[in-house]
Formats: sequence, C-alpha cells, structure tokens
Amino acid sequence: MKTFTDIIALRNSLSNKQRIAFVPTMGNLHAGHLALIKQAKQLSDCVVASIFVNRLQFLPHEDFDCYPRTFDNDCKLLAELNVNTLFAPNEEILFPTQQEFLLALPSVADTLEGEFRPGFFRGVATIVLKLFNIIQPSLAVFGKKDYQQLHIVREMVRQLNLPVEIIAGETVRAPDGLALSSRNQYLNKAQRLEACNLYQTLLQLKQEIISGRKDFPVLQENATKNLVKRGWKVDYIRIQKRSSLLPAHSDDNDLVILGAAWLDKTRLIDNMEITD
Ligand code: PAJ
Repeated sequence: MKTFTDIIALRNSLSNKQRIAFVPTMGNLHAGHLALIKQAKQLSDCVVASIFVNRLQFLPHEDFDCYPRTFDNDCKLLAELNVNTLFAPNEEILFPTQQEFLLALPSVADTLEGEFRPGFFRGVATIVLKLFNIIQPSLAVFGKKDYQQLHIVREMVRQLNLPVEIIAGETVRAPDGLALSSRNQYLNKAQRLEACNLYQTLLQLKQEIISGRKDFPVLQENATKNLVKRGWKVDYIRIQKRSSLLPAHSDDNDLVILGAAWLDKTRLIDNMEITD
C-alpha cells in the first residue's frame, strides 16, 4: 500500500488509473469501515482510502481533540486488505489557509443531525467535495450508518453534476445489534450493555409499522419515552421518507427510522430502513 500525505504526489501516482473506488474515513477503523473497503474492492482494482479527522465537521464543544486516532493500526488493517493507496493528509495540506469557501446546503441539512449539530453537513460536504476533487474517483462508498450523510452526499453529487457514482454500504453491527462506531469506545461497561437498546427501540418501531401502525407521531413519542425511561437523553427518533428524509405521512411506504440519543456524554446514532 502506498501512503501519501501530499496532494501532488498522490495525483501523480493515480494519474494513469481508469477507475478509482474511494472510501473516505476519519480513521480509527473498525469492521464497518473495512466492509466498505471490501465492497470498493469488488467494484474496482484501484481502491483509495483516506484518513482525515475533519475539523470543519465538529462544533467547538465537540470531540475533535479527543476523537480516537489510531493511525498505525489503521494502516495495518488497510494493508491487510490490499488497499492500493492511502491518502492521509494533515491539516496544513488540506487547509493551507483558512477554508473560506464552504458549500451552502439545502434545508435537509438543517434537520435531524443538522438540527442538533448545526454546520455539521456543511463541513462534511465541503471536505468530501475537496477529497473528490483531489482523488477524482469514479465511485465512492459511504455507509448507511450515517444515513443522512449518504443522502446529502448523493444530492450534492446530483446537483453539482460530479462525475462520481455513490455506492451505499450496509451498516455493520455488533452481535447485540449496536451499530459499530468509533465513538462506541467512549462507553463504559454498563453503557455498552445499554447501548444496544437504541437499535432495539428502532427495531420495535419497525415491527409496529410493519404490523400496520400509521400513527407515526405517537410511535416516535413512545419510542422516545421508552429510551428516556432507560436513562437516555434523546435528540430525536423520527420516521421519515427514504427518498427525501422529510417526515413521513401515513400513506408513505418508503420509510426510514432515524434516531440519535445520548448515554451520558456519548452520542449514538442509528437508523433502520423499512421496505415494503
Ligand atoms: P467515519 O465516521 O470515519 O466513517 C467513514 C465511513 O464509514 C462513512 O461512510 C460511514 O458511514 C461508514 N461507517 C461508519 N460506521 C459504519 C458501520 N457500522 N457500518 C457501515 N459503515 C460504517 O463519516 C465520516 O467518517 C466522515 O463524515 C467523512 C465522510 C470521512 C467526511 O469527513
């Protein structure tokens, strides 16, 4: 695996590649990330991964400084999967001067995650666009774990006519259902045991909807109360339309349930699609 921190050297190395599959990450790789890499490998002979903890997508009080950084182990995992190229720039490379050009996003970016993390998706979209411009991939793989991020990246690509195909990877979960996330390691033992109840709550909601319940606001409220009773602080549990991520109505049938909730100081997100 070739590792680059520098943009020009990276571009030179990739200049003769016809079809690059790209997997952007913030490092601290786990089986969820690795599943995306494996998916990318099936789609292209040239897989490029990136590791960059992007300051633009963290609010001032968030965990940018203590976000887990495990570069050496990440390199080992990527090399084991025969990733061709790793781009791991530092901040001086991606932000040699202050990043003053920032994307303006549609209103969906101010809902759900965006309501509780204002500016988050602007930071994500800006860095993803920069990485696409640097790497110029034919396709890029994003996880459904970050469902709204996937939606917004897709819309960005569509509305800005970017020549890259966006591929979705399924969420990889621990045996008890908890979606794998770098932030899971903030949980203590008791919290880790409790954490699967976000997934369980979404699963129960899904079953209620499949069994015919259409009173979505009541279902959302009950699910929230259930988590609050267990000690969670809930940011949102919402039943939305998959295509737009707008609130679903009782006659909609392309649904996704999205949730975000805190266990003490750790914020977890999860989602579940409901197919017909
Ligand atoms: P990060 O949280 O490192 O995630 C990188 C990619 O891995 C994202 O596409 C995310 O959805 C996916 N992922 C995370 N956990 C997953 C799981 N359990 N199963 C499947 N896929 C999973 O998302 C980001 O980084 C950043 O916002 C980034 C896109 C790199 C821009 O900075």
